[in-house]
Amino acid sequence: MRKLASVAACAAVLVSGMAIAQPAANQKQADTAVQFRQALLQLVRSNVGAIGAMNKGQIPFDTAQMEKNGLRLEQLSLMMADYFTLDTREFDTDTEALDKIWEKGADFQSKIDALTSAGQGLQSAAKSGDESQYKAAIGDVFKSCKGCHDIYKAD
Ligand code: HEC
Repeated sequence: MRKLASVAACAAVLVSGMAIAQPAANQKQADTAVQFRQALLQLVRSNVGAIGAMNKGQIPFDTAQMEKNGLRLEQLSLMMADYFTLDTREFDTDTEALDKIWEKGADFQSKIDALTSAGQGLQSAAKSGDESQYKAAIGDVFKSCKGCHDIYKAD
């Protein structure tokens, strides 16, 4: 029973993700948390420029590039819950993150999961070599950004 209970507890933490939000202890910690999560999102951004240009037909589709960006987006998405765990609401920081992130942790996690799936989908499409899949796969990546920003990021 003990073992089962701890397995269940582990699964609960994994599934709930953001539910483990923790208040920042002081201003300095809150400022640093904002810097780190914004840095993570800048890395996310650095992995969509090329695929955005491919989608618009400005540069040719490049499956190696798509696969690399897809893998990185997947990996970066898996860091997001961690970098948003620190709840910075009580401090005056230079952030566009909305308070709802820490009020609706499970939903925020579902938006992170959408980016994970889109990153995986981009890799699958690139590996398939089937050009008819590329635009939809790239589109899903941008939809996942907007899906989260519309609700959880200030304009
Ligand atoms: C699960 C939610 C979520 C997803 C998915 C998401 N973002 Fe964001 N993004 C945010 C939040 C929240 C902020 C505001 C962070 C802050 O200012 O503290 C942000 C900020 C940013 C910033 C500004 C960072 C800075 O330096 O201030 C960029 C650029 C960005 N996102 C790009 C993207 C791109 C591109 C995608 C999709 C590939 C994406 N984001 C997906 C939630 C998300």
